[in-house]
Amino acid sequence: MIVVTAAGGATGTAVVRALRAQGQPVRALVSSPRPRPELSALGAEIAVADLRDPDGVAPLLHGADALYLMWPNFDPAEASGATALLTEARRAGVGRVVYHSVLRPQVRTMPHHAAKDRVEEALDTSGVAWRVLQPCAYAGNLDGALADAARTGVFASPWGLAQAQSLVDLRDVADAAAVLLTEDGLDGGTFEAVGPEPLTAPWIAALLADRLGREVRAVDAVPDGPVPPVGTTSGEYAAHCLRRMFDHYRAHGFVGSPRVLEALLGRPARTFAEHLAQHGAGTIRPSGGGDLP
Ligand SMILES: NC(=O)c1ccc[n+]([C@@H]2O[C@H](COP(=O)([O-])OP(=O)(O)OC[C@H]3O[C@@H](n4cnc5c(N)ncnc54)[C@H](OP(=O)(O)O)[C@@H]3O)[C@@H](O)[C@H]2O)c1
Repeated sequence: MIVVTAAGGATGTAVVRALRAQGQPVRALVSSPRPRPELSALGAEIAVADLRDPDGVAPLLHGADALYLMWPNFDPAEASGATALLTEARRAGVGRVVYHSVLRPQVRTMPHHAAKDRVEEALDTSGVAWRVLQPCAYAGNLDGALADAARTGVFASPWGLAQAQSLVDLRDVADAAAVLLTEDGLDGGTFEAVGPEPLTAPWIAALLADRLGREVRAVDAVPDGPVPPVGTTSGEYAAHCLRRMFDHYRAHGFVGSPRVLEALLGRPARTFAEHLAQHGAGTIRPSGGGDLP
């Protein structure tokens, strides 16, 4: 049995899908008892637990061969909460833990990266066998903006026009997670999951234009005002992290090498054009027909 946390989100569901495709038994942890048709259709056992309550999660870890430890995005409780679950995993005798981190967690100007770095630091002293996956930003993050661009002919980039991101396809991230959860000989390893191309906003616009057969122009969506304070609520923390993230991307980009991901997968990483063709097909079709300027 493999336990996947935060399974109700996009990443969690993708990881469950990749594991079920291998025939692995999966326990998917979700936050509330509402119906989960996608996870149910995949054949996962669904269990409800608040990740911030380690005592509530602990019984769901017993008998697990592996734990995919993932924390909801932009959550100020990640460092302490994920570390507490490592303790429960050790107590429950979980065979191995794979922690879902991020590319370059050590960048301190982005608090949601720094939180993941602290969890990675805790792995060594946790007493569990561990592996780490460090994904770059997902190609799917842009699906909403691409749908807007298909409608308006303008792709608004919050990270400017000059710097690039090595966007990774979420299906590749999930396939790599499944390898780390199931294959022997990888303990203590930290593995980057990075897409195959450094993509600037103008290049993304060109790929979209090519797919649509229509003009698409990238424009710089410069953020308004100063960086919002960290604040005291989850929403304020998320707004702070998002702004820090785009400021970092704008100044330095977010690129890396696909070599490690491709070694894990045993095949080339998916390109952004493949993302547009296969994954984004339903979301980037221009709505309303010929309404590009
Ligand atoms: N997006 C990227 O480009 C990227 C790149 C690298 C790493 N990451 C990391 O990937 C991880 C997952 O990101 P995501 O966007 O897929 O996740 P997400 O949508 O932020 O969160 C996943 C799910 O967690 C569940 N959840 C929220 N609070 C919970 C709680 N207290 N207890 C139990 N479940 C709770 C929610 O599902 P339900 O309420 O439906 O259960 C939510 O949909 C994050 O750690 C993020 O930092 C993302």
